[in-house]
Amino acid sequence: MAGRWKNDLNWSDVTPKSVFMNRRQLMTGAGAAALGGIAGPVLAKLNAASSDFSTDEEPNTFEQITSYNNFYEFGTSKEDPAKYAHTLTTKPWSIKVDGLVDKPGDYALDDLVDGATLEERIYRFRCVEAWSMVVPWVGFELKHILDKVGVQSGAKYIGFETANRPREMPGLAYRVLEWPYREGLRLDEAMHPLTIMATGLYDEPMPNQNGAPIRLIIPWKYGFKSIKSIVRITFSADEPKASWNMAAPGEYGFYSNVNPEVSHPRWSQATERKLGGGLFAKRQPTLMFNGYEEEVADLYAGMDLKKNF
Ligand code: MTE
Repeated sequence: MAGRWKNDLNWSDVTPKSVFMNRRQLMTGAGAAALGGIAGPVLAKLNAASSDFSTDEEPNTFEQITSYNNFYEFGTSKEDPAKYAHTLTTKPWSIKVDGLVDKPGDYALDDLVDGATLEERIYRFRCVEAWSMVVPWVGFELKHILDKVGVQSGAKYIGFETANRPREMPGLAYRVLEWPYREGLRLDEAMHPLTIMATGLYDEPMPNQNGAPIRLIIPWKYGFKSIKSIVRITFSADEPKASWNMAAPGEYGFYSNVNPEVSHPRWSQATERKLGGGLFAKRQPTLMFNGYEEEVADLYAGMDLKKNF
């Protein structure tokens, strides 16, 4: 099953499975008991490739993360992306960088990623629909790209666009959203070390249904901000357009920070269902900024988070 997505070895393959396995062993059973004794060297090795930003929560399985998806370019049911996204050509891949930037251009993906430090980041992921999961992404800080292309001082925002290929993306035939899928961040949000561009999960290159070959991950915001299969990055002085915000501004704000106190007009955001828990699993409380409050609350100091939802 996993072999389906294995292609040529490239930068998305560099997180060795052994590092991930060590971490898992430490967090469970016998491994946890070893923490007091022989864990020293194991932890040291682990720190080199894993990240302080990772959560200790139990990750969802590869199967769960890759079989229940939102990627409307391939259809609106949760099973559609896994069924249809194999039609997306992910090689070669280039990203247009434009707007208020010193070095605009069409960058081959490899050139944009070149020199980046790839890390495993085990993040919580909370969809606005009130389901959640924990995912071991492989990626690098978005800041790497910003540094590379030279953001100009007038730029205050960054916008992203997903590929728009009707022949490869059957869902584009339906106008559920205004295509291409677009998202955006304030520049300081983009520069935050938690914000990553992910190129894989577990030790696999990013599966197509999860946004191959490269997608954004902002763990303290609702999942729809984490735009998939990115082909364009634009730097601007003004707030860029964002697909869900355009479709229903009263339901999906530009910020869309996870906030258990601000309900969606049609449902509460106070709790969530973690994928894989089964029919009778207890819902768990949703945390402010999805549990990343300590790291990101400063970004919103002085803002009314009910108005700027
Ligand atoms: N990006 C694009 N291009 N198209 C989409 O439909 N769905 C968003 C986000 N990024 C979406 C997208 C939503 S609503 C969620 S919850 C996450 O992707 C789902 O990511 P996953 O399928 O990897 O869990």
